[in-house]
Amino acid sequence: QTDIPSVKDVLGDHFPIGAAISVPQTLGEHARLLSKHFNSVTPGNALKWDATEPTEGTFRFTDADAMVDFAQANGMQVRGHTLVWHNQTPAWVFLDANGAAMTPTAANKALLLSRLDAHIRAVVGHYGTDIATWDVVNEVVDEGQSDGLRRSRWYEIAGLDYIRTAFRVAREVAPAAKLYINDYNTNVPAKRDKLYSLVSQLKAEGVPVDGVGHQMHVNVDWPSVSETEAMIQKFVPLGVDQQVTEMDVSIYTNSGESFPTPPRDRLIRQAYKYRDLFDLYKRYSSELTSVTVWGLADDDTWLDTFPVVRNDAPLLFDEQLQAKPAYWGIVDPT
Ligand code: XIL
Repeated sequence: QTDIPSVKDVLGDHFPIGAAISVPQTLGEHARLLSKHFNSVTPGNALKWDATEPTEGTFRFTDADAMVDFAQANGMQVRGHTLVWHNQTPAWVFLDANGAAMTPTAANKALLLSRLDAHIRAVVGHYGTDIATWDVVNEVVDEGQSDGLRRSRWYEIAGLDYIRTAFRVAREVAPAAKLYINDYNTNVPAKRDKLYSLVSQLKAEGVPVDGVGHQMHVNVDWPSVSETEAMIQKFVPLGVDQQVTEMDVSIYTNSGESFPTPPRDRLIRQAYKYRDLFDLYKRYSSELTSVTVWGLADDDTWLDTFPVVRNDAPLLFDEQLQAKPAYWGIVDPT
């Protein structure tokens, strides 16, 4: 399929189109597909804390460097994902000076924030202007809490200050980078209202938040265009940039389903979901500064193991790297 249109050309007037990748996507046939259709990449795991600083003060950038080099060689942008998360963070980060699990004391808070400061200086500093957008904090909102803040180890020990510190240090080290707060289910009213309140507060305090990232892990039936439009409109008054950061469209509508191969009707519903949501994104090109899908092709998707082990097919290209109906939903949406 060398003769089919390039997704990045089709969307060229609207926004850059990205894919989450690992090193294998920069090699061989995957690399050809990636560079033909995409002009942005997000390392899917290689910039998370457990990858970049597995033990204190020892930094590893080999895989992420390879992806950044590939991106630069092919004229692609890079999204940095992610500096602070409650997952994929090594245990040592939350151990106190005696090697025991941190309890919420002032000394432990100071130690944790100093580790956070050092981590962000090293990681963001390593890339300088090579990475122009960072997901500074990921999934910090919990709409089930009255203050809207997830009860992670970060929160339990440092309260809101871990978020303030992360953004301020990132700004100091990379003053030109766009700094994002990223989360899932932002199309759900209760969730986005808590996220909105948090971003409003941070901006009022002068914490340098530039953008809101909408993950958009969705499925063939959900969400509707109108729910998604409300998601984008909600943040317009805050004057922040917005990006779709991790879109995929599961063929499953609940965790009990499992198909050995993707049924035809699901792939068609998926194509209409991609079409309808990308039509919406294009209408909001002034608000959305990029759209990223969470994977290149169905041979490598996190949804094969989340929320249960089963064969999912949420992306634009199939396991043989061939264009799916979902691809045509974006490229030929009529
Ligand atoms: C996922 C990766 O794709 C997997 O390879 C890894 O095992 C777990 O994390 N939300 C996020 C991403 O912000 O970092 C997650 O990525 C998917 C959900």
